[in-house]
Amino acid sequence: MIVGGKTKLRGKRLADATDDYAWQTDSELAQLDAAPLLTISFQQYLSSYASELRYPSSTRHRFAIETLDGKHIGNCTYYDINKTRGGAELGIMIGNRNYWDKGYGVDAVTTLVNYIFQQTKLNRIYLKTLGSNTRAQKCFAKCGFTPYGGLKRDSYNFVLMELHRKQWLQQRGKEDGRR
Ligand SMILES: CC(C)(COP(=O)(O)OP(=O)(O)OC[C@H]1O[C@@H](n2cnc3c(N)ncnc32)[C@H](O)[C@@H]1OP(=O)(O)O)[C@@H](O)C(=O)NCCC(=O)NCCS
Repeated sequence: MIVGGKTKLRGKRLADATDDYAWQTDSELAQLDAAPLLTISFQQYLSSYASELRYPSSTRHRFAIETLDGKHIGNCTYYDINKTRGGAELGIMIGNRNYWDKGYGVDAVTTLVNYIFQQTKLNRIYLKTLGSNTRAQKCFAKCGFTPYGGLKRDSYNFVLMELHRKQWLQQRGKEDGRR
């Protein structure tokens, strides 16, 4: 369990499958994430979910995002972990709309970034988000990510953002100085 200021991150469990299926079959969430809408049945989903939990990938770490009082509100991940190049991609989704725009995204991303830079040797975390998703861009900017380019894929325009360990250390130094 990784505890932040407003959220805690924990490993995924089979009991999360109901929420995750609901969020992955939600067309608004799929659009915001430029993800394909899931069309398989819950039974099929549950069976592949269980097998992913049994055989976790070494290049992807998934966490459930919970409020401090234990409500499952979303997920975050770091994936495509490349130890040679020292980088990984970050993804987040607050699936429960009641928790949007209340600082949970910033807190979960900050908590995950701190964990990655403190517990691994990775030096760069990057992500992509739709150019139209200004809320996500604002959230990532508040966590220290800066834009470094764009990407056109299919009919989507993405903004690419990154955070290097060096910048993260500088930002933490400034925060410590303010305390
Ligand atoms: C994107 C997401 C992670 C952000 O988390 P969140 O908890 O809603 O956001 P936060 O409250 O931590 O921060 C969002 C900031 O953007 C601002 N914001 C909200 N809507 C905005 C908009 N349309 N344009 C610009 N800024 C906006 C908020 O005011 C807030 O800034 P503030 O703290 O200075 O007021 C979350 O909303 C989410 O998962 N949404 C659904 C899926 C999604 O968009 N996924 C894309 C991930 S790449």
